[in-house]
Amino acid sequence: MSKPMIEACGIDKTFTLRRDGRLVEHRALKTVSADLHEGEILGIVGESGSGKTTLSRIMIGIDTASKGEILFHGDRVATRREWRDLRRHVQYVFQDPFTALCPTMRIGKALAEPLAIHGIGSREERPARVARMLEMVGLHPDMAGRLPSQLSGGQRQRVNLARALMSEPKVLICDEIVSGLDVSVQAQVLALLLDLQKRLGLSLIFISHDLRVIRYLCDRVLVMYLGEIVEQGRTDEVFAAPKHDYTRRLLAAIPDRDRPAHHSPIDEALK
Ligand SMILES: Nc1ncnc2c1ncn2[C@@H]1O[C@H](COP(=O)(O)OP(=O)(O)OP(=O)(O)O)[C@@H](O)[C@H]1O
Ligand SMILES: [Mg+2]
Repeated sequence: MSKPMIEACGIDKTFTLRRDGRLVEHRALKTVSADLHEGEILGIVGESGSGKTTLSRIMIGIDTASKGEILFHGDRVATRREWRDLRRHVQYVFQDPFTALCPTMRIGKALAEPLAIHGIGSREERPARVARMLEMVGLHPDMAGRLPSQLSGGQRQRVNLARALMSEPKVLICDEIVSGLDVSVQAQVLALLLDLQKRLGLSLIFISHDLRVIRYLCDRVLVMYLGEIVEQGRTDEVFAAPKHDYTRRLLAAIPDRDRPAHHSPIDEALK
């Protein structure tokens, strides 16, 4: 296998919460280790609250781990400068397309922002880069003049993808990016994601509740349960012979799992 791009080593995360006037600790991640290799698509599944988002936020430094470390290309990420460098190369597409974009910022400006932050290209060439990226995600360059409220949910998620890709990252972490969308729109966005992954040679972490999508998209899968990785392996192997009880229950709950794949628009789009 190719070398790891990014590794989480022994990550623990404890949140302190106030409950009935008392402070209580909640251990959201329990010594989690995972890695993502060059060019691969890694799926993360697990029920709500199992720690998928927390793990991915820690991997890009939006959140800090209580214990453990993140390695990028084999080197520990520790200083501010190292985190900033990682964030140019590892981008995150948020769970909720409706809150990820600033409501008063025009799309063109939102897309140009990462270029300014990371000092990519000259100011003059930014509009052309924005237009090219809009086309790459299947949107008309005129969209640059719109506000997020003037876009459909699917268009907004395309803009989110475009924004994440502006800094030419090597790794994209996609957290439930299609779950708020209509099924046919989900299929279009997933097909776009797969196309971009191939064209740009991206490594992808794909977090989803939808096991059918994970099965089509991902080379490898991690199954999380109550803050731990309870199973991991090649997607076809995990799906064919799940070892952990929780994975078996998850798989048993897939709707229509015995029906031929081409019945779903998502399956159609990913074929
Ligand atoms: N900022 C926070 N403060 C306190 N607890 C938190 C915080 N963020 C997450 N948690 C808790 O940590 C646990 C893991 O949350 P996380 O968002 O990672 O789950 P998830 O697997 O992404 O769930 P979902 O599928 O619903 O998105 C949950 O119990 C959650 O309530
Ligand atoms: Mg989440």
